[in-house]
Amino acid sequence: MESVNLQSSLQTDVQTQAEMTQSSGRHDRNQDIGLGRGVYVSTYGCQMNVNDTERMYSLLEMANFTPVKTPEEAELIIINACSIREKPVHKVYSEVGRYRKLREKNPGLKIGVGGCVGQQEKENLIKNQPLIDFVFGTDNIDSLPNLVSQVFTDKAKVIQTKFEHRAPYHVETLVRNPGVSTFVNIAKGCDNFCTFCIVPYTRGREKSRPMSHVLMDVRNLVNRGVKEVSLLGQNVNSYHSEDGADFADLLKKVATDTGVERIRYTTSHPKDFNEKLMHVMADHQDKICEYVHLPFQSGNTEILKRMNRGYSREEYIAKINQMKKIIPNLVLSTDIIVGFPGETEEAFQDTMSLVEEIGFETIYAFMYSPRPFTKAAQFTDQIEEKVKNERLNRLFDHQDKIAFEIVKRYQDQTLNVLVESINEQGKAQGRSTQNKLVYFMGTADLIGKTVPVRITQPFPSVLRGELQQ
Ligand code: SAH
Ligand code: SF4
Ligand code: F3S
Repeated sequence: MESVNLQSSLQTDVQTQAEMTQSSGRHDRNQDIGLGRGVYVSTYGCQMNVNDTERMYSLLEMANFTPVKTPEEAELIIINACSIREKPVHKVYSEVGRYRKLREKNPGLKIGVGGCVGQQEKENLIKNQPLIDFVFGTDNIDSLPNLVSQVFTDKAKVIQTKFEHRAPYHVETLVRNPGVSTFVNIAKGCDNFCTFCIVPYTRGREKSRPMSHVLMDVRNLVNRGVKEVSLLGQNVNSYHSEDGADFADLLKKVATDTGVERIRYTTSHPKDFNEKLMHVMADHQDKICEYVHLPFQSGNTEILKRMNRGYSREEYIAKINQMKKIIPNLVLSTDIIVGFPGETEEAFQDTMSLVEEIGFETIYAFMYSPRPFTKAAQFTDQIEEKVKNERLNRLFDHQDKIAFEIVKRYQDQTLNVLVESINEQGKAQGRSTQNKLVYFMGTADLIGKTVPVRITQPFPSVLRGELQQ
């Protein structure tokens, strides 16, 4: 590995955005920092990261960079990386390694790493991989044009990973070409500190946007043609606005006061899912999709305790039963971790049985991966990789059978599908209110419209159907 003189070349930037703008004064939005250079952002991780990438492109485009489709066309490459499990972190290093040839061809090429990996690894990234020119954290996206400007003009390595602990969370949604469906961040960060999870360290303390800002954002998006918004947060249902509104209040207002046609949200936490929210969903089902993603992580109460999840198996089941009663036609998905430290075969069977008892249409299951800073990484009863792997496969096999049975109910049902795209052969793609991907033959004028589609072939991952005239 090349060595790099960190003392002289690293410039750890701890200024706030306001201070930077004042002190440098030269790189405000809309200034020509990019000189038309191509920028490519590679994205890993959750919808929050996908949304952040769109924000990066928007900000950089305002500073006269040109978004491009491949790294080969770019003079600026940014990796917006995820660190929820170990694998994505390794992917970042191998991706940067692949850019070595591009750098040899174009010594002016700049490479940066952001997202949760940037926040977590900070200067280590540059120490371990000197091809990286700059690192920025999850709270520093709005300073990206300034930061990139420094990288291009000062030719120094730059690291900016400071959290704005005191600043309120005020960000308008930036989307270049909003499609039919768009994400809107309503909260960021997490204070729950589940013992397996790195998010509280990479996204900082939980903060909510004022309700009036969210509503304004949605109205603006609707004016630009958006039909569906997905409200985003690490724990959307612990949202609390300065004026005392909670998530149920916000959801209701988005449904009644913005003109948007459809609303989704993710991710909710079981302990914050209250009856008020269930009723808002039921009362506004014309707008709010009857789909809830509610991670349970483990079906065993002892493991849930060690995970610091704040609910037991029985409490989770009771909440789901209450939801099923209040929200008509409720569709559920969940996240599960297998092989958490101390998980016995018996405890794993509790997860298997919970999956069956609830009947999720989709599960997102992962092998436990020890993460830096987290409590569970210190637990001494870690599970062997091959046991974790074997449990994960058993869980997926189990769920495949369950989901196959569940989706049979869609056979011959007519679903309302919001059409998102259509290919040259006339194959249209959209989503139903159950969050199902639906394919059918259609025409381009249907994009952005909600149309009735009769399901002819239901599969767990996709439904095929025919447009009803
Ligand atoms: N805020 C959400 C989850 C966000 S992280 C919630 O609390 O439900 C997304 C998912 O990644 C988690 O639900 C969990 O299933 C998984 N995950 C998080 N940390 C993990 C780890 N260390 N190992 C394996 N999976 C993990
Ligand atoms: Fe992570 Fe738990 Fe927060 Fe979800 S609630 S982001 S799993 S710490
Ligand atoms: Fe990954 Fe960060 Fe999202 S760790 S899952 S990108 S919050």
